[in-house]
Order: sequence, then structure tokens, then C-alpha cells
Amino acid sequence: MIDLTFRQKHLLGIEGLQPWEIADLLDCADRYVDLNRRPAKKLQLLDGLTQINLFFESSTRTLTSFELAGKRLGADVVNMAVQGSSIKKGETLIDTAMTLNAMRPDVLVVRHQDSGAVSLLARHVNCSVINAGDGSHEHPTQALLDALTIRRRKGRLEGLTVAICGDVRHSRVARSNILLLLAMGASVRLIGPPTLLPRAFSTFGCELFTDMAKGLQGCDIVMMLRLQNERMQGSYVPSVREYFHLYGLTREKLAHAAPDALIMHPGPMNRGVEIDGVIADDIDRSAILDQVEMGVAVRMACLDLLTRDWRAAA
Ligand code: CP
Repeated sequence: MIDLTFRQKHLLGIEGLQPWEIADLLDCADRYVDLNRRPAKKLQLLDGLTQINLFFESSTRTLTSFELAGKRLGADVVNMAVQGSSIKKGETLIDTAMTLNAMRPDVLVVRHQDSGAVSLLARHVNCSVINAGDGSHEHPTQALLDALTIRRRKGRLEGLTVAICGDVRHSRVARSNILLLLAMGASVRLIGPPTLLPRAFSTFGCELFTDMAKGLQGCDIVMMLRLQNERMQGSYVPSVREYFHLYGLTREKLAHAAPDALIMHPGPMNRGVEIDGVIADDIDRSAILDQVEMGVAVRMACLDLLTRDWRAAA
């Protein structure tokens, strides 16, 4: 066990993390990437600890990688099926949290459709809580896995120019990435149609662009976002066809970025809407599957670091 300064009980957001805590998490995750590439991936680090994954919204990457992460570290992992739970009978979020808390889990991993719901839940339980995405607020482990992907491919975060493109307005991924990248010394440009790019985002210290060609000029990283239709009330784009024409990443638009610019997407991806499938599958430029791989390592690091003090006291 290496000496790390990370001392948080919960991981509710990137907001509030210090740059050295982010660096600790990434350093720890780096070592789990190596472990995950070995045939024997299992440790007993979290032996005896219980992790409950409580997802109120659908997920492929986050849920699966948190389950794998917990199991690879030796925890007992329960995926609570919200569809078949008493939430469907009218039980509140807080009552659900307190019920699960009475079963004495050590970690709760929670995804919820409402911004702030995970922080609220954390105030009613004794265990560590990890935010697996709350509304359009934060998705901290996504930003961490994106940072690990960039750091491993580019060797650094500091001094890079990252373009985050598309539906910024509804994106928890954008918000967490903005906070992390700025904290680690990168520059962030936000690109999208005016309807999906609130001017308030400039207060974070980002540059805002409504023109892809201008915004992508010389960028090191091009991070595409999905149109979050499930969070939209009303119409924000005239048509998918026009959106792809103006904001979908194609080879022509990518030519404005740096020649070695890396393409990223948190997934799930809508080919032909925010990204051309040919670009997404370009193994020389696209890091999309690297992001998925880094997701398991980052979630192992989060589980490891958040439970370190508890394990030391046991
Ligand atoms: N990026 C992400 O959160 O993907 P899932 O919704 O599949 O977990």
C-alpha cells in the first residue's frame, strides 16, 4: 500500500477535490490497469466488505464496471434491482437509503435522475457513498476515467486543450470534466448550439464556441457528448440531420484539431447524430474503448481509497 493523501469518506463530485487528491486517485488507478491486464485479476483487499449498487437510471458501463471493480477487489457486491424494489410501491429515496443502511453496507454506489439526490442520500447513511451520476450535476468517476485515459495517451493533463462538444447543458459528464480538467491545468473549450450551451458555463473559466471549426482549432482532445433527450423538455435542435451537419464529428471537422488529437466519448454513443461511426471506430484516433477499460481501474481505485481508513481501523 503506497502512501496517499486522499482522505474523503464519500465521492460525491469532482467539486471539492484538491488536485493532489485527483492525482492520488489517478496514480492508484494506473496500477489497477496493470492488474486488470493480467489473467489473475482478483485481490482480497475488500474481503468482508459489502458494496451495494443502487441505480435509479439505466447504465451499461458504470454499473458493470463498478460490479467488476468491487468483485476484483474481493468485496461482496449486490446490484439492487430498482425496478423490482419497494421504490415502485412508493418508498422514498431516504427511506430506501436508511433501509439499505440498516443492512450495514460499507459502500453505496448510487445513480439517480435528480441533481443533488446522491448528496442528500449520503447524509442519511453511515457508509461511503459514490456518485455514479446525478441528473445533470456530476459524474465524478467518468471524469476520472477520462483523465486517466488522457494522461496515459498524452502523458499529461496540464497544458492540453480539450474541446467538449454537443449537449453541454444537460451533461453531468461535461460538468465533472470541466472541474477536473481546469483543476489539473488543462484549458477547456465548450462547443455546441446556443440552445445547448448556457453562457453561464463561461464563469467556470471555459471558452465557449457555437462554431465547430473555430472551437476545434488546434485542440488536443475532442470529447463528444450525446444529445440527452431524456432530460429535454421541448426541442433544442431543429432536426437530427441538421445537428449532425453542424455539430456531428466528421473527418472534415476533425481536420481543424491538432493532427494527433484524441477522440473521446463517454457513451452511450449515437452514431450519425453526434459522431460519424467511421471516426468512432478509427483505432488510431479514437480512445472510446480505452475509456471503458480505464473505467474499471478508476472504480477500483475509488473503492480502494474510500475504504482505506475503514480497513485500517478494522
Ligand atoms: N458513460 C456512462 O455513464 O455510461 P452508462 O450510462 O452506460 O453507465
